[in-house]
Amino acid sequence: MIRALLRRLRRVPMVRGRDGELVLQRVKLYRDIRSDGATFRGSDDAPGGTVDYILDLFPPDAFRDASVLDLGSAGGAVCFEAARRACREAIGVEIETRRIRGAWAIQRRLRCRTVRFHQQDLYRYLERRTGEAYDIVFALNILHHFSHPVPLLAKLGRASRDYLCIETPDDARATAFREYGPLLRDIEAADLVTDVPGYFAYLKALHWEIVAERESEHAKLFELANVTRRRVSLLRRRTALPDRATRWREMGLFLEHRSRVREAVLRDPHRLIWADAAQLLDHLRRMAPNTPVNYLLLGPRASGKSHAFDRLPPRHKPRYNPKIFKFPNADGQHGLERHLRPSAHEAERFAEVLVSTSDDPRTHVSLDQLLHTLRGRSVVCLLVYCDAREHFDRLYDREAAAWGTPSEDIWIDLSMRFDYRPWIEAFRRHQIPYVIIHPEKGDRDAFA
Ligand SMILES: C[S@@+](CC[C@H](N)C(=O)[O-])C[C@H]1O[C@@H](n2cnc3c(N)ncnc32)[C@H](O)[C@@H]1O
Repeated sequence: MIRALLRRLRRVPMVRGRDGELVLQRVKLYRDIRSDGATFRGSDDAPGGTVDYILDLFPPDAFRDASVLDLGSAGGAVCFEAARRACREAIGVEIETRRIRGAWAIQRRLRCRTVRFHQQDLYRYLERRTGEAYDIVFALNILHHFSHPVPLLAKLGRASRDYLCIETPDDARATAFREYGPLLRDIEAADLVTDVPGYFAYLKALHWEIVAERESEHAKLFELANVTRRRVSLLRRRTALPDRATRWREMGLFLEHRSRVREAVLRDPHRLIWADAAQLLDHLRRMAPNTPVNYLLLGPRASGKSHAFDRLPPRHKPRYNPKIFKFPNADGQHGLERHLRPSAHEAERFAEVLVSTSDDPRTHVSLDQLLHTLRGRSVVCLLVYCDAREHFDRLYDREAAAWGTPSEDIWIDLSMRFDYRPWIEAFRRHQIPYVIIHPEKGDRDAFA
């Protein structure tokens, strides 16, 4: 703590450069910073580049009274310029000491209270962030440092309310850019979004649209600039709900993924139907005649769990367990215990499990959590298979009914990114009895 404070207050020597600029010693600011008639440059920087060509993409008044977040802020050029343009607050997040020392030194020199810098991993900053979204978020030349940028893109989409500004090399796959990889935690082996068109298709699906774009200036400032060109894109959050056909088209990335998953599910010899679920229960009963058994109905958000239950033919229809209904819930633990170890008169009941999607593993119930909870329990798992079109329609209708416009709480794409394969493999490995059911059809034709 004290060491961090001392680092923040450490004096950075500044000497006058040839053009009258102040050169901060052993510092890399990344861009020239101009404020209050002074120009600041780091001793390790190439001269001449500012962020003007980026901020000029914004409408003239966009910064007035706005809150701004700059991720990977280096010497703070964006934050200082945003302050000059009358923003309410500007936060810079930067991990490297050589760069953030410069930002702190300039802030002290300018006595600028609008601006704050945190030395922190930017992904962790986004993860721990509480409170409202920022009006404007910058992600300039950082995406290519991430080996799997999808979780970061999703977090960027949520951290910003109005504008998202991204600068990135056209060829973001260059292995030379992975220098920061070990600092970052890979959440998902994302195989879909590995190039720049993929980034923007993904953000589009999160309701962001590109409103201005240009090639980067001062390319010579960027390491490896001779390898790849860069561009800067200004995205704005859409406020009107796009019509269903447009939205469906934009979901291309996820739909492609889902169709690959569907093929794998269809190949699964264990996929069964409702009647088979009852047979499976009978089988368990015969194996352990004195052990009462319950069902768990599993699926991602809006996959049709309740719908599947409603469509059960009356003679197969067990009761919902009113104690837990959905796992997890506020008071679910006690109810869940009983559901998983029911007494004779509490058996053959249903409860729902709202499972996590691959993009958002910490929301709802993850596969690991479920396996941990089910250890040694006798329960029949019914995995709801929902094809992409039905799933999409259900999500779209919910979104339209609930909000009318896209909302932070409604994430169609996250719900679509559900991969059945790891769940099926885990059920087999742990010998958990399971069937796959289809909410709409309820019969063998569903998978024919
Ligand atoms: C290529 S520079 C771009 C600087 C600035 N955004 C700009 O375009 O002017 C990337 C910056 O991101 C910082 N950075 C990279 N990974 C980071 C991380 N995980 N957390 C915080 N900062 C990071 C680097 O230290 C570096 O200052």
